Amino acid sequence: MAKKKRTKAKQAKTKRPAKKFRKVVKLSSAKKPKKGNGASLPKMSSKPFGKDGKALTGVRILDFTHVQSGPTCTQLLAWLGADCIKVERPGAGDITRGQLVDVKGADSLYFTMLNHNKRSITIDSKHPQGMRVLEALVKTCDVLVENFAPGALDRMGLTWERIHKLNPRMIVASVKGFGPGPYEDCKVYENVAQCAGGSASTTGFREGPPLVTGAQIGDSGTGLHLALGIVSALYQRNRTGRGQKVLTAMQDGVLNLCRVKLRDQQRIEKGPLTEYSQHSEGVPFGVSVPRAGNDSGGGQPGWILKCKGWESDPDAYIYFITQAPVWQAICDLIGEPTWKTDPEYATPRARLPKLKAIFARIEQWTMTKTKFEVMKLCNHVDIPVGPILSMKEIAEEPSLRKTGTVVEVDHPTRGKYLTVGNPIKMSDSISEVKRSPLLGEHTDEILIDVLGFKANEVAEIKNSGALSAPKKEEKAA
Ligand code: COA
Repeated sequence: MAKKKRTKAKQAKTKRPAKKFRKVVKLSSAKKPKKGNGASLPKMSSKPFGKDGKALTGVRILDFTHVQSGPTCTQLLAWLGADCIKVERPGAGDITRGQLVDVKGADSLYFTMLNHNKRSITIDSKHPQGMRVLEALVKTCDVLVENFAPGALDRMGLTWERIHKLNPRMIVASVKGFGPGPYEDCKVYENVAQCAGGSASTTGFREGPPLVTGAQIGDSGTGLHLALGIVSALYQRNRTGRGQKVLTAMQDGVLNLCRVKLRDQQRIEKGPLTEYSQHSEGVPFGVSVPRAGNDSGGGQPGWILKCKGWESDPDAYIYFITQAPVWQAICDLIGEPTWKTDPEYATPRARLPKLKAIFARIEQWTMTKTKFEVMKLCNHVDIPVGPILSMKEIAEEPSLRKTGTVVEVDHPTRGKYLTVGNPIKMSDSISEVKRSPLLGEHTDEILIDVLGFKANEVAEIKNSGALSAPKKEEKAA
């Protein structure tokens, strides 16, 4: 014990990486430790780009996530090369397997589109033999990711203290609805987070109620934040040799994405928000940031305008930004060349009170063209515009297929389906999208190949019922 203490003290003094770490990562060509992180870079790979594994090759994740926020995070890590072992409740699995089912008897798109590139093992975490398997997983994995309701992991017996004791290098990453405070015990879903994180109060039209957005900023947005936390914790572990807790609260994640609205809250206390169309309409501001319809969030006025075909096509619209440096080009394009020099229109300040009328005039022009024609004409002269693309158009867009952003995947029980691939493109860590696992599909290979259980141990665990759904009569009893 005393020897151990001395060794630890010595390590801290010389700032060398922890002993365990030195075993795992080979610091080749490392003569002198580099300043800063205390470690040198390994020798440069001689393999071609994209052929030397993936960014997270060698990282193993105990994926205890369900629904959307956690699975978004672990799917990203799996795309980046981590071996992601998804632990699911026997017989049921992630609840989304059976939600919004479109092909009878097959996993739903909700599940398949959030769980690519993972392996699935079924474990009853409340069964002693299930806990035996979980503990073995804790010892062998680098990261545990979970998004259970507050306290659920502790109730299973997997407290931070226990995990840390079993595997001091393990990173324990959690999504919760709220951070510490009055709401920390609440269960939270997407729209709750959008409302509590400031998004809903600032989305929609001034005259209408608060609105939630279609983009899943509460679930997927928080999963993204968590993934960054995990990768950073892995990086820090390279230096410290120890794991840590990583927490992202959905409220915090949404608020981070609503940062510009908290900016405006502080500005509104000093005077009107002049770039909001409410200002040009002469409507006084209240005490907090209002809903701003389709106003642009930055200093460049913008609005959504009708395009040719809007009468029958709900998506025949374009977002048009009247960016000051291209004002002259806009005037030429819409047939108002005199606005270039007319002092009533020539400066952003002069235009501000007339924005509604100006956009109405631009719309007269956009309504004579399709959104794609407007896009082409405007981009030709550097006017930023955004066609409102329907999901059908996105699904059929060839360039998105080409980049792997939209991918067709085959699945044994549901057949072919479309999904969104990895939006992060890396030149030396190229993602391929593999179908989601069937429930418990990899149970045996994980027990034997990953955890090293012998055949008799596997039989013992299986016979105990820890990996299978309870029989009907047991359930009823
Ligand atoms: N074996 C045995 N029990 C298991 C299990 C397994 N493999 N996996 C989960 N369970 C148990 C949990 O231990 C928990 O039991 P307990 O409450 O008796 O302790 C139970 O299943 C339910 O878990 P919970 O997370 O409460 O699920 P829920 O369906 O009631 O709630 C959420 C779902 C999403 C609301 C909740 O998990 C939550 O608030 N998560 C954090 C925020 C979040 O991620 N929300 C977004 C989801 S997209």
